Amino acid sequence: MASRMSPLSTLATLSITGLAAAFAAEAGEETQLSVPLPRPLEDTDFLYDGAPAPSLVELGRNLFFDPVLSGNGNISCGTCHDPTLGSGDGLALGIGEGGVGSGSDRATADPVTGRVPRNAQPLWNIGARSYVSMFHDGRVEELDGSHLTLVIRNPAGRDLPNNLSGVLTAQAFFPVTSPIEMAGQFGENPIADAAHHEDRPAIWNMLAQRVAAHTNYFEMMQFAFSEITSADQVTYSHIAEALAAFQTIAFRSDQSQFDAVLRTGELSILSPAAQNGADLFYGKAKCADCHSGPLLTDHQFHAIAVPQIGPGKGHGGDMTYLRSTGLPGRTEDEGRYRVTGDPADLFAFRTPSLRNVELTGPWGHSGAFDKLEDMVRHHLDPQTSLSAFDPAEVLLPPLADLQRLKSRGSGLSFAPLEAGRRAAFDRRDSWVMRSSELRQRIATANVLTPIPLTEDEIRDLVSFLETLTDPSALDRSEMIPIHLPSGLPPQPAAAVSNQHVFETE
Ligand code: HEC
Ligand code: HEC
Repeated sequence: MASRMSPLSTLATLSITGLAAAFAAEAGEETQLSVPLPRPLEDTDFLYDGAPAPSLVELGRNLFFDPVLSGNGNISCGTCHDPTLGSGDGLALGIGEGGVGSGSDRATADPVTGRVPRNAQPLWNIGARSYVSMFHDGRVEELDGSHLTLVIRNPAGRDLPNNLSGVLTAQAFFPVTSPIEMAGQFGENPIADAAHHEDRPAIWNMLAQRVAAHTNYFEMMQFAFSEITSADQVTYSHIAEALAAFQTIAFRSDQSQFDAVLRTGELSILSPAAQNGADLFYGKAKCADCHSGPLLTDHQFHAIAVPQIGPGKGHGGDMTYLRSTGLPGRTEDEGRYRVTGDPADLFAFRTPSLRNVELTGPWGHSGAFDKLEDMVRHHLDPQTSLSAFDPAEVLLPPLADLQRLKSRGSGLSFAPLEAGRRAAFDRRDSWVMRSSELRQRIATANVLTPIPLTEDEIRDLVSFLETLTDPSALDRSEMIPIHLPSGLPPQPAAAVSNQHVFETE
C-alpha cells in the first residue's frame, strides 16, 4: 500500500514572525518567535484521497449509527463516538451494550458485567493515512516490511480477512466482537455466544447476513460494491470498508485557527496568548517531541504515568484484587506492553492527536482527568501529579444492575451479583490508584522529565490547545440518519432538522 510511506511524518520547518515577535521587535528586542510548524493537511493525506465514493460513505453512515451491528440491537458505533460529544461519549469510561442514554445521562438498563475499560477514543481525522495503528495500545497495526500485501497485526490473528485496505477497516472488525461493547453476554443472543467462544468469523458472518437481509441495506451494498449480486456475497469486510469510508469523511476536521496558521504561515492570526502557547508547545515545553506533525501525534507509544481508573484491561500480574475480594479480575492496564511484551512498553499508550482536544474530555486513556488544564499540568510533573491523584474525585456513571462471572472455562456463565459483593465490585474502579505498589509501577515507567512553567505559561499553552478546535466539530449531529434501513432507531437519536441534509442516493 503506497500510503504506508506517509509524508505526514516529515516536518517542514517554517520560521514565523508573528504578532508577539513584532511586538518584541518594536520593544527593541532581537528575539523572533520561531516555531517549527508542521505542513498543512491536504486531501491526499487521507484515505481515498479524502473522497471515498458517496455510495460507500452513505452505506457506512447508516451502519455507523445502526444498533443492527450489536448482538442485542441496543448500541451502535455512534453511541460511544457521538458527533455531538467530540466523537467520544463524554465519559471517563463508557457503558457499552446494556446501557441507555448518552453522555453523562448514560446508565445501565440491563445487567452488565463491567465498564468499558478505556476512554472512548475521539475519531477526528482517523482517516488520515499516517495512522498505522488503532487503539490506545496499537493492537491493530500495520507491520513494516517488504510484504507485497499489507500485513495487519491484530487480536484475531489469521481469522481477520487478509485483503483489507488498511487499519481503519481492520479496526471495525473488533467492537462487534466485544461482549461488553457490542456483542452482549453469553446466553443473550447467538452473536454473544459466538463472542464468548471467541469465534469471531461466526460473528462477522452473522452480522453480514443480518445486514444483507434488510432489502435497503442489500441495495446500498450492491450500489457501493459492484461485485455483490446476491445477499450471500455480503461479508463483514464490506461493512468494515463502508464504516472506514464514512469515518474518513465524517470526522475529518481541519478548519481550526491552527489550520489557518499552517496554510498561511501567519502565526499572528492567533491571540498573543495562543502565540506564546505555540512557542512553548514547540519550544521549552517540548510538547512537539511527541505531539508532532499536522495531527499533533508521532503515532508512537510513551509511558507518561497517567493515572488509571476503572477495571483495567485485565492483563497484569497483580492478584491482590482477587485475593481481597474473591472476585476475578486483574486490574492493571499495562498499555502497549500487552501487545509487545517488551518491558520498555510497560504503561505506554499511543500519543493522542490533539485536534479538537478541547472537545474530547475526559482526557487520558482511562479518562482520569476531567479538566484539560489538569491533563497539561500532569505532563509538567507526572510523578507528583500521579501521587496527588485522588480517584474518589472521578465521576463514573454507576453500574446499577450487575452480573458476575460464575465460573471459568467451558462452563463460563453469569449470575446476578449478590448485594453483599457490590462494594467489593465497586472497589475495582479505584483499585490500582489505591495500591501504592501498582501506583509505583506506573510512576517508574514514566519517561517525562519535569518542566517548570509559570501559571501564565500554562494558561497560554491551554490557549494554544484551544486554537486546535475546528468550530464545525462542536456539533456534527446533522450526519445522523433519521431512519435506518434496519428499522431500528439510530443511536444517538437524530435531530428532526436532519431530514433533508443527507439524501440517500
Ligand atoms: C462501548 C463503546 C464503543 C462502541 C460501541 C464502539 N467504540 Fe470505538 N472505541 C471505544 C473505545 C473505548 C476505544 C479505545 C479502546 C482501546 O484502546 O482499547 C475505541 C476505539 C476506536 C477506534 C480507534 C481510534 C484510534 O485513534 O485508534 C476507532 C476507529 C473506533 N473505535 C471506531 C468504532 C467503530 C467503527 C465502531 C462500531 C463498529 C465502534 N468504534 C464502536 C468505544 C466504543
Ligand atoms: C513523551 C511524549 C509526550 C510529550 C513530550 C507530551 N505528551 Fe501529551 N501525551 C502523550 C501521551 C502518550 C498521551 C496519552 C497518555 C495516556 O493516556 O496514558 C498524552 C496525552 C495528552 C493529552 C490528552 C489528550 C487526550 O485526548 O486524552 C493532552 C491534552 C496532551 N497530551 C498535551 C500535551 C502537552 C500540552 C504537552 C507539552 C507540555 C505534551 N502533551 C507533551 C505523550 C506526550
